[in-house]
Amino acid sequence: MSLNLHSLTEQKRLILVGGKGGVGKTTISAAIAISAANRGLRVLLVSTDPAHSLADALDRQVGDKPVHVVPNLTALEINPDTEIDAYLDRVLSQMRRYAGPDQINELQRHLRLSRQSPGAQEAALLERIAQIMKSGMEQFDLMVFDTAPTGHTLRLLSLPEVMAAWTDGLLKHNKRSRDLGSVLSHLTPGRSIDNIAGDPAKHETEQLDDKSQKLAETLVNRQRLFHQTRNLLSNPEKTAFLFVLTPERLPILETERAIKSLMDSDIPVAGAVVNRVLPEAIDNDFWSARRDRQDKHLDEIKSRLKNINKIYLELQPYDIQGTNALSALGDLLTQNSN
Ligand SMILES: Nc1ncnc2c1ncn2[C@@H]1O[C@H](COP(=O)(O)OP(=O)(O)O)[C@@H](O)[C@H]1O
Ligand SMILES: [Mg+2]
Repeated sequence: MSLNLHSLTEQKRLILVGGKGGVGKTTISAAIAISAANRGLRVLLVSTDPAHSLADALDRQVGDKPVHVVPNLTALEINPDTEIDAYLDRVLSQMRRYAGPDQINELQRHLRLSRQSPGAQEAALLERIAQIMKSGMEQFDLMVFDTAPTGHTLRLLSLPEVMAAWTDGLLKHNKRSRDLGSVLSHLTPGRSIDNIAGDPAKHETEQLDDKSQKLAETLVNRQRLFHQTRNLLSNPEKTAFLFVLTPERLPILETERAIKSLMDSDIPVAGAVVNRVLPEAIDNDFWSARRDRQDKHLDEIKSRLKNINKIYLELQPYDIQGTNALSALGDLLTQNSN
């Protein structure tokens, strides 16, 4: 089955590009984003991969703040280290309002330890991603996320629960945590905080003291944001996940596994780009031996990913760098997908 990239970018609001390191995710995300922007869509291109290469691919500086790359295209790189610092600062300043001076030291120690934990890193990243997706839905026609290698992406997608547990863990350090349980059950009668889908503002809150109410609202809003994000991610009308792989053993096996996990978590998989396919016209022994080897992998892709739409993209003679090269690659991808 083939995949029509043109209609994918016209129909969806969010395209997530995933796959192993080095297979061409950044290049292909940027190429898709640039060709959609060339057609007049307002596009946001975001990299959440800790190995930042969006700047290299675009051949210009991209950072934490959105930059205009070409008309209609805005790009952004999220740095996990910056995110975790900003995130923990936010948590600490929220907590300061509730904890006594004697508890602040303990809280700071706890947060310093949290900084090292993968859970906290991902929680911080997820919160930023969720906010970007939310505001992106208002400001752009299409968002393209160049995501981290597959395992990381899968964990990011499953974080609403992990995040809830982590927030609860932090709150145990708060002397008001005992009250908090009753505050939360007051806000959402008969439901745990994990399941809040409705509007907490509808619940009565007047009897709570101010601080408890603010804290509870912060938590409820965050959980609501995560649930909205998950709803967006699992909505096949708005969202599509696109895998990039090369015709090699490990990327094939990893892609097969990742597609299965994504489908199990209800994330719509639109297809796969098989990248760096060696051209047919090869006239020396070394490369034709490689080509034979690759043909076996291409057969493997056909059988293992048989229900997945695919686009094939040849290995290009040069690295693809700069907006012109990416734009040409985007056109080639779109052609190959028809
Ligand atoms: N089809 C291709 N032909 C030639 N070079 C490619 C192709 N796809 C990607 N590259 C090059 O391979 C390198 C790695 O690609 P990149 O997009 O950064 O991978 P990833 O983001 O998956 O780690 C880059 O230098 C890029 O220009
Ligand atoms: Mg990359």
